[in-house]
Amino acid sequence: MGKIRLVTTITCAALLLLSTAIYAADDIQKQVDDIRGALPKFAVPMREVGDRFQNMYFAAKEGNWALAAYMSKYMDKAMNPAKVTKPTEYEAWKTFYAETFAPVNKAIQAQDMKAFEKEHNAVIQHCNNCHAGMGYGFIKVIKMQTPADAGIDYKVTSKATDVPK
Ligand code: HEC
Repeated sequence: MGKIRLVTTITCAALLLLSTAIYAADDIQKQVDDIRGALPKFAVPMREVGDRFQNMYFAAKEGNWALAAYMSKYMDKAMNPAKVTKPTEYEAWKTFYAETFAPVNKAIQAQDMKAFEKEHNAVIQHCNNCHAGMGYGFIKVIKMQTPADAGIDYKVTSKATDVPK
């Protein structure tokens, strides 16, 4: 094989490999975009936040403190897809849950209904402040008279620490 032919063959093989790699990277990027596009943003998980927020009140009121703690835990976890789909806005949620919502969680852990009632009421204003701040002032959370989910026995007696890790 002549030197030129060898160089040409190697170059062609290298180009072929490179274009395959670029094509594969493009394909992976498209798949990542598709998956991200299929994940919920804020609206879907916020429905869950709303329901769990209401439910925890009835759990606490009936002394089912583990259920109250559980509702709070998954109220937060429900927002996980937004880490990927709305990273900037997710940071605001993260701070809200870690700081603004902390007194509610503290009252649950202390199983203190008086403190819980006060803090659970007070935080509604902050939920709504975030809505207004993000252009959703028309979504105004109000306290429900009955739980969002009727299919759970709120009257089971439990301790806040009963929630499995
Ligand atoms: C970090 C900002 C932020 C915080 C904090 C927040 N929300 Fe929201 N919430 C939103 C946004 C943004 C929407 C609108 C969703 C959209 O269009 O993407 C929303 C929508 C909602 C909805 C309507 C969901 C639907 O589509 O039916 C409910 C209910 C709700 N929030 C409840 C709450 C409750 C309860 C709290 C407090 C415990 C809370 N939110 C705290 C940003 C926030």
